[in-house]
Amino acid sequence: MDALDDMASVPTAAGRLPLIGHGLALARRKQDFMCELAAHGELVRLYLGRLPAYYVHGPELLRHLLVTDARKVAKGWVYDRVRALIGDGLVTAEGPLHAMHRRMIQPAFRSTSIASYMDVMHREATEMARSWQAGRAVAVDRAVAGLAGTVVARSLCSSAHMSPRTAGRLAFLNTSVLKVMSARSLLPRSTWERLPLPSTRRTTAHVAEFHRIVDDLIARYRADGTDHGDLLSVLLAARDADTGAALSDRQIHSEITTLFVAGIETTSAALAGAFHELARNPDIEQRVVAELGEVLAGRPPALGDLPRLDYTRRFLREVLRRYGIWFLMRRAVDDLEWRGLRIPAGTTLLFSPYALHHDPGLYPDPARIDPDRWLEDDLPREAFLPFSTGPRGCLGESFAWAELTVVLAAVLSRWRLRPAPGSAVRHVASSSVRPEPLRMIAEPRRPPG
Ligand code: HEM
Repeated sequence: MDALDDMASVPTAAGRLPLIGHGLALARRKQDFMCELAAHGELVRLYLGRLPAYYVHGPELLRHLLVTDARKVAKGWVYDRVRALIGDGLVTAEGPLHAMHRRMIQPAFRSTSIASYMDVMHREATEMARSWQAGRAVAVDRAVAGLAGTVVARSLCSSAHMSPRTAGRLAFLNTSVLKVMSARSLLPRSTWERLPLPSTRRTTAHVAEFHRIVDDLIARYRADGTDHGDLLSVLLAARDADTGAALSDRQIHSEITTLFVAGIETTSAALAGAFHELARNPDIEQRVVAELGEVLAGRPPALGDLPRLDYTRRFLREVLRRYGIWFLMRRAVDDLEWRGLRIPAGTTLLFSPYALHHDPGLYPDPARIDPDRWLEDDLPREAFLPFSTGPRGCLGESFAWAELTVVLAAVLSRWRLRPAPGSAVRHVASSSVRPEPLRMIAEPRRPPG
């Protein structure tokens, strides 16, 4: 059989429309459409406009794509389009440039560094929790988005160069960067930017301000020449092990922007998901609160506590399973082979951590939050990919686990969050699936007994 015949044997998903292909289903039903594609099995063809792409599903094939044959796979055209906005940071860079940056930046995510970011996480989460008032409604989705933003900003710059106002401003401006990024991933740059709408002009101004603040921070750090023990200090001190080369200001700028776009929306979706699910599942909430109380006895979690918080971790695994990234893209840069099938170089591939995590063959009753399903963890490793895997897997995974745990501990030690009367929460997908709008009433938590 020749190669094209091979791919011709792959079924096409139902519902293809002239010109737009499956674009409408993708735009309107996002995560649900991904789950429908997953029901076809390991590979199914869909059309993004007139361009064919292949949806890839299941632990074995994903392992092949993301680990075994990772060298033959690049990121795909969505990332090409956002590169113009965020530059060649870790998420968008390819090949040797990516490998070099990853080696250079990895030290910023070692456990000693994570431990110091945990102080930032605790301070910021405590401040958020202290600002709430008993019996009053809180927009929890917005609160955790702001929190995740200031945590990244203050982990990046722990020094006086980052005032609380600047941290808050960067977190706010980041939402415009994300907005432009998702618009650009769908439309060519010129189309989007030519729209003469006040909102477009405002967003463009926010993006420019974001970039100005980042440039200013880099210049200040270069000028004072001090190691502040934070993420930006690591980026400035990083040297390539082979060549001794340092990162340029432009490269550092791209990496900072990348940390903002990669580390905030994902984490805040999981935090919002956690508080939403705890309110819906009082038995689970009771066990999480009891475990945090027993293990921590009122102090903030340290890195060494995380493995001891077994039930909390299993709950957070469920949260990451339910509130995850709904779609990621790859492109074969070399021919791939899978079970006698040749996937030619140039093929666009999509996969969905969300749909993988809602496959009833892997997770019976997938919509149910059940931390105990992880007691017998007999699934293949690649059945759970909230952080993806392989050389392009999330660099901030330990950071994220620490943040989720620290924020949960800070909030749950003070508050029980209950749905505000009349609230109707939906599962909305931006990059991650999140519960929205999440208005909750903060009730003071009484100490047990
Ligand atoms: C719950 C929170 C998070 C989730 C679910 C998550 C998920 C992911 C996923 C799925 C990828 C792969 C993306 C792709 O293939 O295009 C990724 C990449 C990345 N993430 Fe995260 N992430 C989280 C938090 C963070 C945080 C807090 C940071 C940093 C502070 C971070 C930094 C990165 C970076 C730098 C990459 C690119 C890695 C590379 O290609 O070398 N992430 N993340």
